[in-house]
Amino acid sequence: MTNRPTDEIKEGTTELFVYKNKASVKGPSIRENVPFYNPAMELNRDVSVLVNQWFVNVSAKHVHILDGLAASGIRGIRLAHELSGDFDVTINDWNDESFALIQQNIQKNQLQNVSVFQRDLGSLLLERRYHSIDIDPFGSPVHFFDAAVKSVYNKGIIACTATDTAALCGVFPKVCFRRYAAWPLHGASMHEVGLRILLGCLCREAAKYDRGIEPLLCYTTDHYVRLYVQISNGKSAANASMAQYSSLTSKEVPLSKDTATLIGPLWLGTIQKKTVIQEIRSLASTKVLNTKHLLWKFLDLLEEEADAPPFFYTINDLSSLLKVSPPTMEHIVEQLKKKGYVVTRTHCTPTGFKTNAPLDVVTEVFK
Ligand SMILES: C[S@@+](CC[C@H](N)C(=O)[O-])C[C@H]1O[C@@H](n2cnc3c(N)ncnc32)[C@H](O)[C@@H]1O
Repeated sequence: MTNRPTDEIKEGTTELFVYKNKASVKGPSIRENVPFYNPAMELNRDVSVLVNQWFVNVSAKHVHILDGLAASGIRGIRLAHELSGDFDVTINDWNDESFALIQQNIQKNQLQNVSVFQRDLGSLLLERRYHSIDIDPFGSPVHFFDAAVKSVYNKGIIACTATDTAALCGVFPKVCFRRYAAWPLHGASMHEVGLRILLGCLCREAAKYDRGIEPLLCYTTDHYVRLYVQISNGKSAANASMAQYSSLTSKEVPLSKDTATLIGPLWLGTIQKKTVIQEIRSLASTKVLNTKHLLWKFLDLLEEEADAPPFFYTINDLSSLLKVSPPTMEHIVEQLKKKGYVVTRTHCTPTGFKTNAPLDVVTEVFK
């Protein structure tokens, strides 16, 4: 153990030591504060607890879970402490201070079902297999995709966070192209395009090994993208996934530039599995979670948009385009539904709505 001062924090029912740092409650990961603890990611970790509980519940066998980039170990330690069922957790971080802190936190929680490694995640994944793999890096998870796809068992889950939103959302398009071999969009739907680029990249990596992907729960915030994806063996699963992997022109994305700029390739299939979200929502009532009320609202939104088409309009952008004052969201939803179209809100922005109505119908409703 180092002599760095520690704070004691509590998430869910788990108490942990974390090193004191200057982590903001708003921003993404700060690379300097290693091993850092970011309180802003509590909801992200609460979702991990729920998805992994769902997964342990539906798995007929013992489940091996990996927290691959653990920092203080909070995610893996919470899983070990807060899940019930037949599972074990491996917690890994190559950093010396992290390794020491993780061990201290395991002792603090008197956990028996945990192993700790101080390894490069890439090489660990090439040696061992897991049913549920979490990749939570500073920046992009893409460097671990190949090894994670090889490591994960059939029907297992790969979860990852990407905080390189400037690349995925088109501030740095060349970085996005280098990293993900895809062109991003910088406009209203940029966060969803970024999420779909990340999914497309994982789909492509899995298909190399005749494996397919099924997104279970995927979302974006201003600071990060988060994916939970189930991986299945077989050429037909891989072919079915690759059929959802394609490019677009910006004309096909609502409210984008008129010029036909190339976007993608990216994942164009569904990004939520409704039944999983419903089950996770009811599991939330069985857990102690500080973000529960926010989480319920959030899961409601994800469920609402689960069957909606990709991309969305925003009320603000439409109102400046059409030079009219904006109607309420309720009015838009009611009118489009009355005309028989699918219309939902989106978790990507509070002023966004998804619909299969063509632009002239949306315009008519708006005016
Ligand atoms: C963003 S932090 C993880 C945060 C943590 N999951 C949480 O919820 O608080 C990323 C961690 O990955 C570790 N790391 C980066 N590259 C690694 C690698 N190739 N192998 C193992 N650990 C690595 C860093 O030491 C750092 O602690």
